[in-house]
Amino acid sequence: MASNWYKLSSIAKKIYTAAAGLFLIIFLVVHLSINLCLLRSDGGEWFTAAATFMSNNYIVKVFEVFLFAGFILHILLGIIIQIQNWFARPHRYKVEGYSHTSFFSKFMIHTGIIIFIFLCIHMTNFYFVKLGWSPVPDGAADKHDFYGMADLLFSNANYAVLYIVFMIFLGFHLNHAFQSAFQTLGLVHNKYTPFIKFCGHVYSIIVPMGFIVIPLSYLL
Ligand code: HEM
Repeated sequence: MASNWYKLSSIAKKIYTAAAGLFLIIFLVVHLSINLCLLRSDGGEWFTAAATFMSNNYIVKVFEVFLFAGFILHILLGIIIQIQNWFARPHRYKVEGYSHTSFFSKFMIHTGIIIFIFLCIHMTNFYFVKLGWSPVPDGAADKHDFYGMADLLFSNANYAVLYIVFMIFLGFHLNHAFQSAFQTLGLVHNKYTPFIKFCGHVYSIIVPMGFIVIPLSYLL
């Protein structure tokens, strides 16, 4: 029942968090493909065409609803799981023993919150403008001028540096997230798990680097 969602068992919460997280992992690839169009010296023609398609296509609009639901579900359940973990182990161990968890796995809530802050900034800059909820920045032609807005923001060195820092934290989150989601969903196998972990490491470097290349090209 919808009103009882908070009573989900721990494993159900983990499974929903993982499934929503994997969905977000796929979404990031789509988003990056569009952003990389900014690297073309075509006055934003490809980027604008892709952004316009994403804004107007009805299938994408349906996808957008799932995307928002995925983000909300992942964030809420991620926070609840973390709080429950803290309550389950209220006293920090005085001597930290050898841990099998990866370095980044200990900071999922922290890197998650940093990504959340970035999302708020990102939504204010792009999505809320599109809806008419926040003003069109000076220099952009209108609320559909995503290229003008992106160009304006990345031309600001402070914004470009901040964006790069946020993407590094995204990489930290993804480094553990990718393989952990497979594990949570029970997709564990002696033969394939090392490969999944390898893919996770590659993904967590390549995707954030792809996003970083764009502000970097403006800075250089
Ligand atoms: C594009 C953004 C994001 C992606 C692709 C992503 C992806 C993932 C994935 C795949 C997992 C692994 C789930 C598992 O262990 O089974 C995970 C874990 C987690 N995420 Fe995210 N995440 C994102 C943003 C966020 C945000 C904004 C928060 C906000 C708080 C967050 C909080 C967490 C937490 C706390 C965990 C660990 C949950 C646990 O211990 O099981 N994530 N994330």
